[in-house]
Amino acid sequence: MRKTIALIASGLLALSVSAAALAGAPETFAQKCAGCHGKDGKGQTTMGKKLSIKDLTDAKVQAATKDDAWEKSITEGVKNDAGKVVMPANKGKITPEDIKALVKVCRDFKGK
Ligand code: HEC
Repeated sequence: MRKTIALIASGLLALSVSAAALAGAPETFAQKCAGCHGKDGKGQTTMGKKLSIKDLTDAKVQAATKDDAWEKSITEGVKNDAGKVVMPANKGKITPEDIKALVKVCRDFKGK
């Protein structure tokens, strides 16, 4: 019985943690990403234009890259062809779980 309760409790905890991560992801995007990618994901910011950021609402951009590659870009950052860091790494700053939630936020821009 006690084991069952413990199991239910840990299940609930896991559920609330992932729900919190998802709820927080749009705010994280607004704080850490929108400065370059724009609140609408189109990349039409001063930085976005300078760095020729892709339009995340574009279905072709969405189709060109899989979730795990985006996860990697968000975790490790992005370098341009000259090897210059154009998007900062978030390793150790954003948890892997929150990075997954951010990929979802980026996916949600599709067609908007
Ligand atoms: C300093 C500006 C800057 C910031 C801040 C930034 N990015 Fe980027 N991001 C870029 C650049 C530049 C690229 C490479 C060009 C491109 O792919 O659009 C890029 C690429 C990406 C890609 C890959 C797009 C693709 O199809 O290859 C994703 C996804 C992404 N960023 C998400 C994020 C998220 C999420 C955050 C916030 C945690 C973030 N970026 C913060 C500049 C930035």
